[in-house]
Amino acid sequence: MPRCILSPLDLTVEELDELMDTAMDIMKDPEKYSHTMDGKVLATLFFEPSTRTRLSFEAAMLRLGGKTMGFHSADSSSATKGETVADTIRVMSQFADICAMRHPKEGAALVAAEKSDIPIINAGDGGHQHPTQTLTDLMTIKALKGHFDNLTVGMCGDLKFGRTVHSLIRALVRYENVKFIFISPKELMLPGYIRDDLLIRNNVEFREVTKLEDVLSELDLLYMTRVQRERFFNEEDYVRLKDFYILDRKKMELAGKDMLVLHPLPRVNEIATEIDDDPRAAYFKQVRYGMFIRMALILKLLDVKVK
Ligand code: NCD
Repeated sequence: MPRCILSPLDLTVEELDELMDTAMDIMKDPEKYSHTMDGKVLATLFFEPSTRTRLSFEAAMLRLGGKTMGFHSADSSSATKGETVADTIRVMSQFADICAMRHPKEGAALVAAEKSDIPIINAGDGGHQHPTQTLTDLMTIKALKGHFDNLTVGMCGDLKFGRTVHSLIRALVRYENVKFIFISPKELMLPGYIRDDLLIRNNVEFREVTKLEDVLSELDLLYMTRVQRERFFNEEDYVRLKDFYILDRKKMELAGKDMLVLHPLPRVNEIATEIDDDPRAAYFKQVRYGMFIRMALILKLLDVKVK
């Protein structure tokens, strides 16, 4: 099996540092990297819709000099004819050098990786993991805060279905003395496999609360998320919960002057647009870092070194 990235833990802390250094170097001198992928092809197999993540991968490959191909919904692939993910990936392995894949089912990327001849990057599998969003988040934190240790991180919104939250927690618990405050309605609290098996088992300090206002002043970082409509079983519950949190100017007055606001995007109502020009709002910068860290990841998985 080639090197695949299915979870953020597939990279060591040292490898993460190395990737972030490469991404910073690409940002400084993009020209130096602009032909490193000449003649190579990235396949983007998106069985679930996405704009940002897919185009971020495509932009990353194009800016390295490579080419891209793929599909952006299950409807436009042979999945509609009943083809399995395992077969799709075996076929794609003949066409492309590396593949980014998103699928609505948890574990789909692992199934693909087991049958693949080329590196597979999990670009989101159901409510499970989203490792390159985590790389994006880490890169943003490193660039804007300078460190991970000793941070108090607030995560707010849909902590049950939000895969970006699940992946980021996994990555952050590897650093020293990171504390979490989880802010969600009761119905959207963290799943047990994160709360009990990861946080409690590893003695990570955390609290679960429902009111954002009560904790804003304690946070170094606030990670906002949208309520994941597509993973709800009924529309009524979604409608009841979708506007539970709205971060606006008034709430931002309760936060420290250095508290970063991150969001994986797309945003729905959970951050008022009046916050966008606040210097603490980092979610659009985050998108930019995401492209550079994906460039670094493609270089690493295809083992291309640039001096
Ligand atoms: C996230 C995702 O797909 O999980 N978006 C993204 O990758 N940019 C978050 C979301 O869809 O809410």
